[in-house]
Amino acid sequence: MKILFKNIKELVQVRSESILFVAGEQMKNLPTIRNAYLVIENDIISDFGTMDNCPDSHVDETIDATGKMILPAWCDSHTHIVYSGNREGEFNDRINGLSYEEIASKGGGILNSAKKLQETSEDELFEQSKVRLEEVMHLGTGAIEIKSGYGLTCDSELKMLRVIKRLKENYPIEIKATFLGAHAIPAIYRNNKHNYLQMLINDVMPKIANENLADYVDIFCETGYFNVEDTELILEAGKKYGLIPKIHVNQFTAIGGVQVAVKYNALSVDHLEEVCEEDIKTLSNTSTMPVALPGCSYFLSIPYTPARKLIDAGLPLALATDYNPGSTPSGNMNFVVSTACIKMKMNAEEAINAATINGAYAMGLEKEVGSITVGKQANLLLTKPINSYVSIPYSFGSDKIEKVFLKGKQV
Ligand code: NIG
Ligand code: FE
Repeated sequence: MKILFKNIKELVQVRSESILFVAGEQMKNLPTIRNAYLVIENDIISDFGTMDNCPDSHVDETIDATGKMILPAWCDSHTHIVYSGNREGEFNDRINGLSYEEIASKGGGILNSAKKLQETSEDELFEQSKVRLEEVMHLGTGAIEIKSGYGLTCDSELKMLRVIKRLKENYPIEIKATFLGAHAIPAIYRNNKHNYLQMLINDVMPKIANENLADYVDIFCETGYFNVEDTELILEAGKKYGLIPKIHVNQFTAIGGVQVAVKYNALSVDHLEEVCEEDIKTLSNTSTMPVALPGCSYFLSIPYTPARKLIDAGLPLALATDYNPGSTPSGNMNFVVSTACIKMKMNAEEAINAATINGAYAMGLEKEVGSITVGKQANLLLTKPINSYVSIPYSFGSDKIEKVFLKGKQV
């Protein structure tokens, strides 16, 4: 199946395959081709250029994109979309003034979601989760990372990871799986965190490796959850099973998570609402991608990741949703891109780079997705007629996407 898109007003994020991510000043550069054509063959981008060079060879379908733009589909490198039920019950508590930490210490929060998930069958969990996956695909997400971390027992963590595997087998969207057993300390281990970590390392990790259920390992490195020593323990164990770290750091407090992440060559450090000078220095000239989650800051009313500080210091930055029932019940990357511009003072070019090529890198998918590049997956956003690509972040809350193509097929 060969499809030709012609008269594209602007083809956005055109890159050679040598660009793996963009950092610092380069993030302001978003390469485009005006009045362009694009050819996809089956699931792959096979050719593009300006309309004067548009090929006239046979195609199976021609789509006229006059007035419209094409971008690579969004790359959402941090989500928790496999969960059971919701936390609407805590919503009013928070509106009435309780903080995320206060709700958690009352037995709400992650432990609340874990209880529900433990009582939910694998089939039911798949049914609930696929609704969210389909939703984000329609919103333009073409590659996604999904974490475990609401199981908190051996069986339930494996149940979550098996659901992620089933999602992978049943949908065209590219999926990476992350083991986040160290997301919270279960009540029965309250006074024995060490035993919980040993259970994760000795019981769960070998089974994950056996069934090939995860690509990455994560831990909530945060005051009141897991400290730097716990993080070292988990990352060291993960290494034995080939699990690369992608970790939750600096959401509420900076306790050294960035330093341990870099020491273990983490692929990404995520959240970073609280960043100190030391963290920026540590991240400079490393292969670790900082990831900001503005939807979480919006929902919890906590500070936004200081994007200007990070980018102006020469670092790269990726944007992701953090879609989860507790801190970010939304998987809308369009909203994330818009909020990054409006609240984090990123310009449109920086935000689009962060949500595409840098997001792809933060999932280890920089060779497959994240830009308009010959040989990459045909994961495309065809916009409605728009004035410029700035319309996407500018028109916050308004849907500018007309069609989404994943692996060459319309969603
Ligand atoms: O990334 N902070 C840790 N984990 C999630 C929230 C989990 C929850 O509250 O259910 C996050 O924000
Ligand atoms: Fe998260």
